[in-house]
Amino acid sequence: MRRPFVAANWKMHKTVAESVTYAHAVVPLVEAITDVDIVVAPPFLALPAMADALADSRIKVASQNVHAASHGAFTGEVSLEMLQGSGVTVVIIGHSERRQLFGETDAGVNAKTRATVGAGLTSIVCVGETLEEREANRTFDILDRQVRDGLAGLSPEQVATQVVAYEPVWAIGTGRNATPDQANEAHRHIRQQLVSQFGDSAAACRVIYGGSVKPGNVAELVGQSEVDGALVGGASLDPTSFSEIVAGSRSTAI
Ligand code: PGA
Repeated sequence: MRRPFVAANWKMHKTVAESVTYAHAVVPLVEAITDVDIVVAPPFLALPAMADALADSRIKVASQNVHAASHGAFTGEVSLEMLQGSGVTVVIIGHSERRQLFGETDAGVNAKTRATVGAGLTSIVCVGETLEEREANRTFDILDRQVRDGLAGLSPEQVATQVVAYEPVWAIGTGRNATPDQANEAHRHIRQQLVSQFGDSAAACRVIYGGSVKPGNVAELVGQSEVDGALVGGASLDPTSFSEIVAGSRSTAI
């Protein structure tokens, strides 16, 4: 039984004040949904205020990035200890925008993932192929490499409690989501890679889908047997839309 997991990735949107307004709006909308893990990832600056505003709710607060080192001369970076001190329990790692725009590598993703899991937080490790890679029939090779290298060094028990997000790059922010069949096929492949790398217990790792998820398509996507939830960008910025996506993920195939 894999419990549905739905995360909002706000990217570089919302001030601290706007974030708190959202928090107060979204809590009553999802209060009755107790069978889904719900996570919101605001920008760094809003993390402490969001953790405060959501303290009495079931919604967890995530960061969109982290630095792997515990401290040091890394201008502009944020450590796990700082995040934990601000109420963060989940970290998004290796989003395709970080890989494409900020030069993140599989080795960097792995360092961040090991540090995050080692500190007792939950990682959401993002993987996914570009359109060019899909058209060249390289999707599975890319996913295998990103999963293998990104999660290397974790124990099977650790992998079982983490989250992998399958986000085909061509579906992010484009309004063109993967079809439910495409998503299910990729998720099945990712789970097979996890099991071959870490053993049967790794099948418990939740694999969530991201890329143009909306209230109107979430149920069909998360209804697939291998799709355990959603990582939502644009449609998570409005509390009503995000709450509808959380509600739509309840009928997930578990
Ligand atoms: P999108 O973004 O929902 O706006 O496509 C998803 C993501 O980048 O996590």
